[in-house]
Amino acid sequence: MDSIIVTGNGPLNGQIPIAGAKNACLTLMPATLLSEEPLTLTNAPRLSDIKTMTTLLQSLGAEVSQLQDGQVIALSSHDLTSHTAHYDIVRKMRASNLVLGPMLARLGQAVVSLPGGCAIGARPMDLHITALEALGAEIELKDGYLHAKAPGGLKGAEHELQFASVGATENTVMAATLARGTTVLKNAAREPEIVDLVHCLRKMGAQIDGEGTSTITIQGVERLHGATHPVVTDRIELGTYMIAPAIAGGEVECLGGRLDLVAAFAEKLDEAGISVEETPRGIKVARRNGRVRAVNVTTEVFPGFPTDLQAQMMALMCTAEGTSVLDETIFENRFMHAPELMRMGARIEVHGGTARVVGVDRLKGAPVMATDLRASVSLILAGLAAEGDTRVSRVYHLDRGYEHVVRKLRDVGARIERVSE
Ligand code: EPZ
Repeated sequence: MDSIIVTGNGPLNGQIPIAGAKNACLTLMPATLLSEEPLTLTNAPRLSDIKTMTTLLQSLGAEVSQLQDGQVIALSSHDLTSHTAHYDIVRKMRASNLVLGPMLARLGQAVVSLPGGCAIGARPMDLHITALEALGAEIELKDGYLHAKAPGGLKGAEHELQFASVGATENTVMAATLARGTTVLKNAAREPEIVDLVHCLRKMGAQIDGEGTSTITIQGVERLHGATHPVVTDRIELGTYMIAPAIAGGEVECLGGRLDLVAAFAEKLDEAGISVEETPRGIKVARRNGRVRAVNVTTEVFPGFPTDLQAQMMALMCTAEGTSVLDETIFENRFMHAPELMRMGARIEVHGGTARVVGVDRLKGAPVMATDLRASVSLILAGLAAEGDTRVSRVYHLDRGYEHVVRKLRDVGARIERVSE
């Protein structure tokens, strides 16, 4: 297993290119199952999660190939040979459950393993199940697998999600594109990745309105055709690299960044005394003098502060002036980075879903362990500002969601290297 060693090395300066969004690509790829014609995705990120989704789709009989060094993904589901998503793939990546809606719509049946828990929480699928049942699916849990079928095809319906679940919204919208009649999905998630999915489905011939609002209306059609679609910029990678100059000092321009994707997050950086400015090529972030001010953060569904940036914000607050309170309302166990940051001298008290961080002048480098994707990158960020070396182990977590993190940070002056254990 590899580790990454990062050494506090003063302010950062330069430009970091932001890739296509992992969480958009992971819902765009299964959309190929909805059509017999080819789907081409451009601006795709090069990540291990994308490889996992590729393997899953190929196991169903889809043809998936990475072109141009992985920046283009060519998909075709003309002849599907299976409708089962096996546990050994699904347990590695929860997003595998996004084949459920499209397979039900296209094949009238699907067998998908329950993902099982993960580091940040139990992550059940009850909201996906009730929404698809509202469209006429019959779903039974047997031996850890969801056995779903829609013998006479799916039928449009009105359904309100109990919680604005991203995945449940994506599965339901994809399923509804081929259902008979109209579906009105209320309390739908509003994340930019869902807007991007709808833009792609519309190019494929789907009739959908309301993306980005809490009510999405889908008029079912007979069939969908092929399309070419660019994956939207990754707002979580963007936010992560916006924190790098905030925690280490200096000025970094995040190329391809869009302020509308990170508005709530950018407001919090501004409140903390960090300069955030839109440029013709992206977003420029600078911390010139003085310490970062402590701010309070509550994670919410979009357009609120994203849960996927909570760990990175906590790293920043560890060296802020004052005390910060972070409330994690989306996942039940998303503070695993706290004990690791405390090994670096951070002062954090965790009580249930609330973490209280008292800022310290300087963190001290230490050996720490990555536990999940976003926690691992928060440790790298902390290491940028720490005195001495920080060695982050189990960086395979990082490879799931961040391409070329060592190169991108080294290009703006960080002292960082990847070593094999
Ligand atoms: C997506 O996960 C993202 N993953 C997550 O990013 C992100 O943290 C999450 O949305 C919230 O924004 C992808 O898009 C691939 P949810 P998803 O359904 O769809 C509960 C990352 O780091 N829930 O909105 O699984 C659930 O347990 C990952 O890139 C149910 O109770 O998230 C959680 O507490 C981590 N029942 C909350 O809702 C359900 O049926 C939010 O889950 C579904 C979800």
